[in-house]
Amino acid sequence: MVLLGVNVDHVATVRQARRTFEPDPVFAAVLAILGGADGITIHLREDRRHIQDRDLRILREVVPCELNLEMAATDEMINIAIKEKPDMVTLVPEKRQEMTTEGGLNVIELKEQLKEAIKRIKDMGISVSLFINPSRPDIECSREIGADMVEIHTGFYSEVKGKLQIQELERIKDAVTYSVSLGLLTNAGHGLNYYNVKPIASIKGLRGLYIGHSIISRAVLVGMERAVREMKTLIKEASFHV
Ligand code: PXP
Repeated sequence: MVLLGVNVDHVATVRQARRTFEPDPVFAAVLAILGGADGITIHLREDRRHIQDRDLRILREVVPCELNLEMAATDEMINIAIKEKPDMVTLVPEKRQEMTTEGGLNVIELKEQLKEAIKRIKDMGISVSLFINPSRPDIECSREIGADMVEIHTGFYSEVKGKLQIQELERIKDAVTYSVSLGLLTNAGHGLNYYNVKPIASIKGLRGLYIGHSIISRAVLVGMERAVREMKTLIKEASFHV
């Protein structure tokens, strides 16, 4: 079965909106694991806009399955990964102004920098995945520079509809098949939701899917009635009865 890694960044986004203690992405991660997640993903960004260093530290202690740290291939982040030892690192491109990771890594242009980063991380016993577009040259280059895995970007597939989506699905299928044939463990992710996940999950050879926003969005809604009921109960218990 294809594995599911749940990205809890957006729980931290809500917390950081108030810079308070809740909701804690660590609690969310534990519940996701109880719900059947095969792993937890967090993206520690340079600007710390959602996940904080403390989240990584605690998650490393409590996550018994795969902890996947998404990060830019910078010295600061590599040193953090070496110190905290997630099970795997996914190297992603990172721009300050972007809302979310916008495209795959330009592996060919960044070949030397990535090769060095991959070596440093792998030397510490941490697996390395590269987040790339569904492109054969990018897959070949990923293997050449020593990546253990790739994650094929499904963002464009998720944004378009109809014929364009079918075309993009074919491109992703080709990329997965090619990547698997080169011996790379092959994942996919970005923009996947409850309506578009099935055609991707059925691609032969795929190892895992990394999904965040849609799962967190649904969690907010399916939990809403209970959350309101619990607050009503507290208010009722405390209310002055005449
Ligand atoms: N994979 C990578 C490399 C990502 O950067 C993200 C977003 O943080 C995801 C998967 C999950 O994307 P989404 O939140 O759209 O499900």
